[in-house]
Amino acid sequence: MYNLSDYRKNYSGKVIIARKNPFKLFEKWFQEAEKFESFEVNAMVLSTVDEQLQPHSRVVLLKSFSEKGFVFFTHYSSAKGKQIEHNQKVSLLFFWQTTERQVRILGTCQKISAAESDKYFYSRPVESQKSAMISKQSEILPSRAALIRQFKNIKHPVRPETWGGYLVVPYYFEFWQGMPSRLHDRVAYSIVQGEWSHVRLYP
Ligand SMILES: Cc1cc2nc3c(=O)[nH]c(=O)nc-3n(C[C@H](O)[C@H](O)[C@H](O)COP(=O)(O)O)c2cc1C
Repeated sequence: MYNLSDYRKNYSGKVIIARKNPFKLFEKWFQEAEKFESFEVNAMVLSTVDEQLQPHSRVVLLKSFSEKGFVFFTHYSSAKGKQIEHNQKVSLLFFWQTTERQVRILGTCQKISAAESDKYFYSRPVESQKSAMISKQSEILPSRAALIRQFKNIKHPVRPETWGGYLVVPYYFEFWQGMPSRLHDRVAYSIVQGEWSHVRLYP
């Protein structure tokens, strides 16, 4: 048995100063995480549910956010793309170790416009454009060598229609702050009569 029962970290955060607007609080927490996180501060866990009601989680990179929602890019034809086609309800999760914070978001997912996907696709390094162009993400890869050959043969990458952005429009946020004595703080936001409203949750 690999026993981890002695793993114990003390948290030292302060109570959450809630704001009316969860996007503003998210922005503040993101900026604070940006100062300290050394690796992929914009990495988030995206969870989707398939037709058998099996949840799937994986990391994707947040590429922009505003009060409209949270944007990430992927292959529409991937496993996650198929799951989203079937069920637009998704969850996003950020865990920032250095600030001892977690943000959970529930929302609905929709494709962004082809023009917006083009804009981001062609802003990426050309190697990333090439790999996006040739990947059949989540399908079985019979030969890695053949993939590399295909990569090398592309002269002018073009965004495939099967690659683009999704916007997650949130209807729920939960902010978690680690605090001393396991008396962590949690603030949950939902939309009540068209307005964001928040409550505190037991840790
Ligand atoms: C740090 C990190 C960042 C990633 N960013 C993305 C991303 O932005 N888009 C993406 O499609 N996959 C990204 N991935 C890969 C996904 O986690 C996943 O392997 C892939 O999207 C296939 O998922 P699916 O089979 O559930 O569709 C990232 C993985 C890691 C570890």
